[in-house]
Amino acid sequence: MKELIKWSDMYKLGLEEIDPQHQKLVGIINRLYQVMQESTEKDELNTIFSELTDYAEYHFSTEERHFEEFNYIDKVEHTRSHEAYKERIAHFAKEYEDKGSTILPFQLLDYLGEWWTGHILGEDRKYVECFHEHGLK
Ligand SMILES: [Fe+2]
Repeated sequence: MKELIKWSDMYKLGLEEIDPQHQKLVGIINRLYQVMQESTEKDELNTIFSELTDYAEYHFSTEERHFEEFNYIDKVEHTRSHEAYKERIAHFAKEYEDKGSTILPFQLLDYLGEWWTGHILGEDRKYVECFHEHGLK
């Protein structure tokens, strides 16, 4: 199977709750990538795309809940980055709807690949110390 993001230990933050969520997100993105290349089934694409949107929302709320609990120093900036992602995705979704297209733009996949890998290795990595200090395993 062709993967957009190859999951590796490099993406592990050492947090039992967060790591499987990131891995699941990468899995959904890879499925979306695969379906986009193989199928013109709009329904299937729509299903995976909304699964990704919902799961990302769930994941962000997990992180943001901990930011609040631990009064994480970068919580405002980090939350803003989640908001920017959601806006961008909503924009892609709207464009896709308006055009009545059967394919999602490949720019979306580029964006997803770059955003998630950059975010996990960059911003997410910064909260690990804080989460550990507050007893999160
Ligand atoms: Fe995050």
